[in-house]
Amino acid sequence: MHWTMRLAAAALFLSLTMVVTRDVEDLCLYEALSDADAVLCKGLEVFYPELGNIGCMFVPDCNNYRQKITHWAEPLVKFPGALEGTTYILVMVDPDAPSRSSPKAQFWRHWLVTDIKGADIKKGKVQGQELSPYQPPSPPVKSGFHRYQFFVYLQEKQNISLHSKENKTRGSWKMDKFLNRFHLSEPEASTQFMTQNYQDSPNYQTTGAGNSEPKDKPK
Ligand SMILES: *[C@@H]1O[C@H](CO)[C@@H](O)[C@H](O)[C@H]1NC(C)=O
Ligand SMILES: *[C@@H]1O[C@H](CO)[C@@H](O)[C@H](O)[C@H]1NC(C)=O
Repeated sequence: MHWTMRLAAAALFLSLTMVVTRDVEDLCLYEALSDADAVLCKGLEVFYPELGNIGCMFVPDCNNYRQKITHWAEPLVKFPGALEGTTYILVMVDPDAPSRSSPKAQFWRHWLVTDIKGADIKKGKVQGQELSPYQPPSPPVKSGFHRYQFFVYLQEKQNISLHSKENKTRGSWKMDKFLNRFHLSEPEASTQFMTQNYQDSPNYQTTGAGNSEPKDKPK
């Protein structure tokens, strides 16, 4: 190879690396929730693969995370303040169904687990009676950002169950009635994260991230 060609190749390589690095930095920001939405963040951590603890954050608009989270299995939910020898209930809901501006189907019940041992949830392990198996966040297109809220309650009653009518559907769940029925008042810990449909996200590319070229590739 002629030296000028080698130089040109090196320069191109350098500029491409810089573009890629800058893109990653631009797009992979973990943005914190607003102060008003952060009020719910109290002593609970939610870990998904790749993302880490997403409690109190927006799911970042990079690496297809907003798409991936619609397929991932249930997260680890860690309550470091859990007491061993106690039993807990975990509730995950979306109060913004179908949208935050018009939540006609509030609450959407994503996950409901009872009989979780304190020693388990202290380590992030959610194991117990699954009254409603985990359903990943799947906010509809053009419905804006949804909150995904996690609450942990101390379980004092033995037999927590959903009415058969409640069990028929996940939407329009009267969570307050459920809590009252079992005398569950204040959660021991809680948190939330937010995401929106990946097709509405500025960095979504229909060709898939793998084939896409840097948008501002130098000519
Ligand atoms: C209803 O209860 C069954 C058994 O616990 C459970 O598998 C099912 O997912 C529940 N349905 C809903 C919508 O929560
Ligand atoms: C728990 O409650 C359900 C529904 O109310 C009932 O069918 C079941 O027999 C109860 N189980 C126990 C062990 O009390």
